[in-house]
Amino acid sequence: MNKRFKKLFVPAMAVAVLAASAAAIAQQAPKPENLIKWRQSAFQVIAWNSGRIKASVEGQYNKDEVVKAANTIAAVANSGLGGLFAPGTEQGKGWHDTTAKPELFKDGNKHFADLGASFAKEAAELAAIAPNGDVTAVKAQYAKLTRTCKACHDDFKAKD
Ligand code: HEC
Repeated sequence: MNKRFKKLFVPAMAVAVLAASAAAIAQQAPKPENLIKWRQSAFQVIAWNSGRIKASVEGQYNKDEVVKAANTIAAVANSGLGGLFAPGTEQGKGWHDTTAKPELFKDGNKHFADLGASFAKEAAELAAIAPNGDVTAVKAQYAKLTRTCKACHDDFKAKD
């Protein structure tokens, strides 16, 4: 392949491959067991990072750890987690049996959406203030964030 052709051809090929895989994804709705796995995995990542912040605010404060953890939680919280609670996933196994309560799946559950929105908002706020390293402010915002976990688990998660 001459250089000029390669320059043109390689990006075009990459676009074609992406388009083909996007089409394949569009045709196949994810399997319920995958949706349940993904949401359980997402919450495990959230819990891992929540624990990193807890260790910092309760022990030796490490700003870099808090920034990384807060950014990760904010990204996952704002990633559209609600889509993983699609119809057909009321029951079933992901990594283990779902612990989501049946009420969560009642048509257009506004209460669940509201709880998810306040979780996303408090997570974004924590990520916004973490870089300034104000421990008192981070501690207060982290407390606000964890109240959103509890609020949602109280109503929509079977066991904690
Ligand atoms: C808007 C609701 C909501 C919010 C907010 C929320 N969770 Fe959850 N969480 C759930 C539901 C529902 C499940 C059960 C998922 C399943 O098993 O299908 C769950 C599951 C979990 C699990 C278990 C995952 C597994 O392996 O089954 C952990 C750990 C967890 N959440 C931690 C957290 C933490 C920490 C926060 C806050 C920083 C949080 N969650 C915020 C609804 C929420």
